[in-house]
Amino acid sequence: MRRERYMAKPINVGRSEDWLQIDLFDGKKFSPSPVRRIPTTDEVLIAYTADHCPRAISARCPHLGVPLAEYARPWERPGTIICSAHQCVFDIRTGEPLAVNQGSESVPCLGSWALLPQGDGSWVIEGFEEE
Ligand code: FES
Repeated sequence: MRRERYMAKPINVGRSEDWLQIDLFDGKKFSPSPVRRIPTTDEVLIAYTADHCPRAISARCPHLGVPLAEYARPWERPGTIICSAHQCVFDIRTGEPLAVNQGSESVPCLGSWALLPQGDGSWVIEGFEEE
């Protein structure tokens, strides 16, 4: 459902140097989050595949909807994140849930969209149409 909403309108997510690093505090030290914020929207975040390609991903976990800006953590495999709320693991490139908490019956895919570089250095989510 959320995916169809995104497909209706192009979103330019700006230049990669303007994406905001999020620092996570574990009670002892800060460490970088595996996702970045986009200054112009709270609807999607940026995450990187195993081969370092940026992808736009849903800002909310598809399990119970917590904000991934706060709950996403790196997982043991490059190109994946774990939602620390209930330990669901997602592949950034496909959005596929790779591991789910035993108490979770089924978890939908995480929204994940390719980004296309634009001539001005910004990126647009693939599949969006210009207005
Ligand atoms: S809300 Fe993310 S794993 Fe439950």
